[in-house]
Amino acid sequence: MRKALGVLALMAVALAAGCGTKIGPGFDDKEVNLGLFVSTSGEIATFGEDTKKGVELAIEEINAAGGIKGKKIKLTHYDTASKPEEGKAAATKLATQDGVFVAMGAVASGISLAAAPEFQKYGIPMISPSSTNPTVTEQGNYIFRICYLDDFQGAACAVFAMNDLKAKKAAILQNQDDAYSTGLADFFEARFKKAGGTVVAKESYKKGTTDFNTQVTNIKAKSPDVVFLPCYYNDAALIAQQCRAQGLNVPLLGGDGWESDKLVPNAKGALEGCYFGNHYAEADENARVKAFVEAYRKKYGNAPSSLAALGYDVVYVVKKAIEDAGEFDRAKVRDALAKLKGFEGVTGKFDIDERRDARKSISMLKIEGEKFKFVRQINPSEVE
Ligand code: PHE
Repeated sequence: MRKALGVLALMAVALAAGCGTKIGPGFDDKEVNLGLFVSTSGEIATFGEDTKKGVELAIEEINAAGGIKGKKIKLTHYDTASKPEEGKAAATKLATQDGVFVAMGAVASGISLAAAPEFQKYGIPMISPSSTNPTVTEQGNYIFRICYLDDFQGAACAVFAMNDLKAKKAAILQNQDDAYSTGLADFFEARFKKAGGTVVAKESYKKGTTDFNTQVTNIKAKSPDVVFLPCYYNDAALIAQQCRAQGLNVPLLGGDGWESDKLVPNAKGALEGCYFGNHYAEADENARVKAFVEAYRKKYGNAPSSLAALGYDVVYVVKKAIEDAGEFDRAKVRDALAKLKGFEGVTGKFDIDERRDARKSISMLKIEGEKFKFVRQINPSEVE
């Protein structure tokens, strides 16, 4: 009786709000509401634009095939404007005002870190497609990711610098105000030293810096064989130009944060022949990857970036978790996510481990003109 009254009360609220037959948090009889919070404006706008394209392609395919357990996906997106505080605001809105069933985001670790406690508080599963800082999923048991982590990424870049670029002396230039940057810098440093290399300089800059000349001068004075730049694409492009202007011509190396179609144009040639790691190889011969690349090209007219591929995968992960859970119950979906094994995505086959993370390989790429040429893949076992 009490339950029946509760349901009636819920229905009354739903009717009063004019939103159809609401039968649970984040879904009704026809739709399930999924949240997305990524930056489609500001300094890292291409991260969100690409992610959203991948997400929308997956939703289109799923809805055309009947949805998730008979419900069509409705997407509620907020632009987090490249700012952690906007990430928190978006999370609060998605959780309270929109009451989304599950949330997908963010890209930048700093934004995921600001948003995660909100979703945790409301018991809404949050899955980041691409935040790599280890502390993101430590925010609570409702927080997941489907990409590799920076301890692995930093180590892989260090091994690549040592073995492939034959570097013995490395310099690092980090953004001291960004968790992604400082984390990746530390992991690179530890692994490079462990491999017998020397970190001859570790320089820092404040968020928003555009003149890196002092740091570049200090780095150049130490004659490194390679400079590691754990930052996002705009900083990488500017730093590269200032390195070249000062005659520091050694290879520059970065992580996934470099990936953007703005990287090469913004660097004005300064990144030619440099290297970075990403999450996915477009040239993958796998049939699933080929079909995705083709569908993406057809819809958007260009090849998908790893951000698009991870955005595409995250929607299918949500679908799989809801199907495994058997019902639209957030706690059960959380449990299903925690148990996800052998998921076959376009970014590889992976499990979700006991820390709610994925263990995947990294693809090292070389910048050649406008193209990112695949060099080789590094697996976790190679650097552990
Ligand atoms: N890994 C980056 C972070 O955690 C985000 C990113 C992922 C950027 C993939 C580009 C490509 O902040």
